[in-house]
Amino acid sequence: MNDPGGLPTTLAGFEAAYRQALEAGPLAYYSGAAADELTLGENRAAWDRIKLSPRVMIDVSERDPSVEILGRRHSLPLAIAPTAYHRIAHPGGEEETATGAAAADVTYTLSTLATSRPAPVAEAAPDSDRWFQVYVFRDRAVTMDLVAEAEENGFEALMLTVDLPVLGKRDREIEDEFVVGDAGTVPGIQAAGGKGLLSMQDTADLIDPSLTWDDVAELSSGTDLPVLVKGVLRADDAKLAIEHGAAGVVVSNHGGRQLDTVPATAEVLEPIAEAVGDGPTVLVDGGVRRGTDLAKALILGADAALVGRPVLWGLATAGAAGVEAVIGIVEDEFDRALALLGVPRAAALKGQTDLLFDRK
Ligand SMILES: Cc1cc2nc3c(=O)[nH]c(=O)nc-3n(C[C@H](O)[C@H](O)[C@H](O)COP(=O)(O)O)c2cc1C
Repeated sequence: MNDPGGLPTTLAGFEAAYRQALEAGPLAYYSGAAADELTLGENRAAWDRIKLSPRVMIDVSERDPSVEILGRRHSLPLAIAPTAYHRIAHPGGEEETATGAAAADVTYTLSTLATSRPAPVAEAAPDSDRWFQVYVFRDRAVTMDLVAEAEENGFEALMLTVDLPVLGKRDREIEDEFVVGDAGTVPGIQAAGGKGLLSMQDTADLIDPSLTWDDVAELSSGTDLPVLVKGVLRADDAKLAIEHGAAGVVVSNHGGRQLDTVPATAEVLEPIAEAVGDGPTVLVDGGVRRGTDLAKALILGADAALVGRPVLWGLATAGAAGVEAVIGIVEDEFDRALALLGVPRAAALKGQTDLLFDRK
């Protein structure tokens, strides 16, 4: 099904269109995950397994999908997860994604491994709400340079990814001999010393595997921006992140791309949210595809969720308009979910586990 503008009306429709648009190598990189891709499958299956228990006869004529994230109002409990190399999906690259995110009024997280630096992305989409994702390169001066550029260009939070000390074993990418392209197309990598045609392994080799909690403390104390630690799957690690100065955590298994057979994020979210308590921000990603998944994330204690691959499906299919449409689909579904759950305000969903069928 397509809308009057010719774009798909479901995320599945966008995924099908993106499969037509891209070649085997990029498809393996974007869609693939680690090893047997068991966690990839579980991420989706776990949201599907959760059943909702709606209330009826509640006035839902006025609904408010907005929530507060990091002390600021957001029109939806949703943001765009950082993903690398957008110019492989679309010639307009990250500028195009940021433009689509601004049109949809959701926050875009620019990756360290972007095919554009923070300044031009901010210039292309000055109205976009934006966060910057940090990989710490072995050459830390390069990382601090990128962070400074993000700070100077209106990025409002840093998201430090901590689940990639080495690259997960990504069989699909290896079999399809996926190459990112020339190092010159990825400014962060070029600055960090990458040269020539790069595989994902070459890229990952530039990232510092010696990171510890002290580095979280150092990053947090060296910036005025809030720092979110992305890639946490345990309650004790989430508490350590907060103790070391993080403003919050992103419960994430990197979309199943790092250590295969770790649990789905929907399974570990609730104990993590409970462990960190009310103050810190808790985000979650991995397999979020439906408005009902967003509602479930909030019910299990998240402040908001991130989507990764669907944004790439939108970008590859129709550039900024595709990104906007993908977010619009989830927004419409979430609005319906609020009405059908009998909870007209998104902010009231957080921690309301009596809205789950098998829980009180
Ligand atoms: C193609 C691709 C590239 C990614 N690149 C990054 C990255 O540069 N930095 C990062 O922190 N996470 C990266 N991730 C992980 C995402 O931020 C996110 O955790 C994951 O995609 C969420 O799962 P979903 O794709 O099922 O929504 C990437 C994921 C994909 C699919």
